[in-house]
Amino acid sequence: MDARQLKIEAARAALAHVSDGIRLGIGTGTTAEEFVRLLAAKVATGFRVLGVATSERTAALCNELGVPLSTLDETPQLDLTIDGADELDPALTLIKGGGGALLREKIVAVASARMIVIADQTKMVGTLGRFPLPIEVNRFGLKATEIAIAEAASGLGLSGAVTLRVTDRQPFVTDGGHFILDASFGRIPDTRALSNALHAIPGVVEHGLFIGLADMAIIAGDGGIETVHAAR
Ligand code: A5P
Repeated sequence: MDARQLKIEAARAALAHVSDGIRLGIGTGTTAEEFVRLLAAKVATGFRVLGVATSERTAALCNELGVPLSTLDETPQLDLTIDGADELDPALTLIKGGGGALLREKIVAVASARMIVIADQTKMVGTLGRFPLPIEVNRFGLKATEIAIAEAASGLGLSGAVTLRVTDRQPFVTDGGHFILDASFGRIPDTRALSNALHAIPGVVEHGLFIGLADMAIIAGDGGIETVHAAR
């Protein structure tokens, strides 16, 4: 099966967890977009859902395909969020933000009673960190924040390039108007310690480590669907 088909299979399996009338957080990225397409087809048959999108990009797709949307202000408590991930480990700690939506993704996930991650098998790793960690930062004092991040990482025995994300030769700007630094620290043995250290830096708005948020992951591979539950 090719990569896109695996994403579709994971998205299809997740749809079985979406009940009629649900308040649903809707993720961002190519896997989440496959989910939106399948959800839209179900909505077209009369299925009722009230979605909250985790990005302008996802909101645009939902609007185009007829998935009813609310905002988190109108609907601040959600039943479930379904989203992709850039990496996940066996404890279901995630790296997210490859698509630049990590801040809204995390706000929506925290506002949800449950979170299901959908991914293909290539995203599953023993220890997080192969994928550079996205860190959303305030534009003000960018260089100082970059140095503070490198120092915080060094204090935890981590090192590696911290690079400003650029698209079309311009800094990538998030839906919240911030920049993203991608930190290539390599393996991150203690995600909680890194999370705490990054949160202590004023210029850091949020980082892409999702700890204790995902309840379940639906992983599609050539051998079929594997479901992983968080041990909580
Ligand atoms: C968006 O900011 C990300 O967190 C995505 O959810 C994540 O990058 C997964 O994207 P893909 O499904 O495109 O791999």
